[in-house]
Amino acid sequence: EKGGYPHFMLKEIFEQPRSIMDSMRGRLVAENTQLTMSSIREYENRFKNANRILIVACGTSWHAGLVAEYLIEELARIPVEVEYASEFRYRNPIINEGDIVIAISQSGETADTLAALELAKSKGALIFGVCNVVGSSIARATDAGAYTHAGPEIGVASTKAFTAQVTVLTLIAMMLAEKRGTMEKSALHQLMLEMEQIPAKVEKALQLDKEIQAIAEIFKDSSNFIYLGRGLNFPVALEGALKLKEISYIHAEGYPAAEMKHGPIALIDENMPVVVIATKDNSYEKVVSNIQEVRARKGRVIAIVTEGDTVIPEMAEFVIEVPEAHEALVPLLSVIPLQLLSYHIAVMRGCNVDQPRNLAKSVTVE
Ligand code: F6R
Repeated sequence: EKGGYPHFMLKEIFEQPRSIMDSMRGRLVAENTQLTMSSIREYENRFKNANRILIVACGTSWHAGLVAEYLIEELARIPVEVEYASEFRYRNPIINEGDIVIAISQSGETADTLAALELAKSKGALIFGVCNVVGSSIARATDAGAYTHAGPEIGVASTKAFTAQVTVLTLIAMMLAEKRGTMEKSALHQLMLEMEQIPAKVEKALQLDKEIQAIAEIFKDSSNFIYLGRGLNFPVALEGALKLKEISYIHAEGYPAAEMKHGPIALIDENMPVVVIATKDNSYEKVVSNIQEVRARKGRVIAIVTEGDTVIPEMAEFVIEVPEAHEALVPLLSVIPLQLLSYHIAVMRGCNVDQPRNLAKSVTVE
């Protein structure tokens, strides 16, 4: 049932071109500039006039929420806040009737996320779910929602569910931009066309597997890792660090690259691997300076760059190239090498990648 792969996690990583496609199917037809999600249409006015969107989730789903925050604010100009469900539910949050709460959950059974949305519901917010498991508790508790179509995810560490969540949330951001008229028609059309190309680009990114395996071999005995990214790649840095912690038990931290000088830079020496996500986007130049800062302190840089980059290979020890893509869609590509890196390191350390110690697939207790 692992389809020839040694672990479910690897199988699920390699399923992503398909699961991303399945999460777009019927919702995006770029040729006709068409975006449809019946649940959004049903509440079109609520979404159009939303004062604020609150996102509640845990773990990897919370990282997908951070990507959504940046995208919805950038494309649709609606203020968004992302909260850990466990914090939100216990801190008497301010929720108004015009608010929309998006609960993101792969399993649909996470106790804290369920309690957070019940609380928001009792205050009159519209609750929208982005779940993977059909008919799950969270899916049933929402007013409306859009399923991710990742298919069953068996590996405890979430991979294809994350990219499916980001896909659906990106489509939602695009739909809201369309309804609110916050994007030029031609720019929106261009983004749709580029979105359709993502599965093929993910397929290409997966071909990096061997290259990443070689890098994993070099760093498998490290005790610590730092992951850095800016903008949409900041949540990807968090996600990369979480994946490594969960399955290899290596201590890893993700940071927005510019926060480094406010503390974490003290950790950097010749033993510290630093994974820097440095794709071509509007923070590229800044990230290049961050790489130089790490190099100046002898940190070992593994850079995720856009294909064809000639600058970073001159300064980083290891470079992994992902296909070029629209800036808004980069997380769907930049996360792939990070998933593979943590997978290979964990396997080389003899860890049980599909069922890491102390973790459960759905956290139904608080
Ligand atoms: C990460 C992971 C956890 C889950 C979190 C939320 O690989 O598996 O961090 O993402 O427990 O789970 P769901 O999305 O089922 O609510």
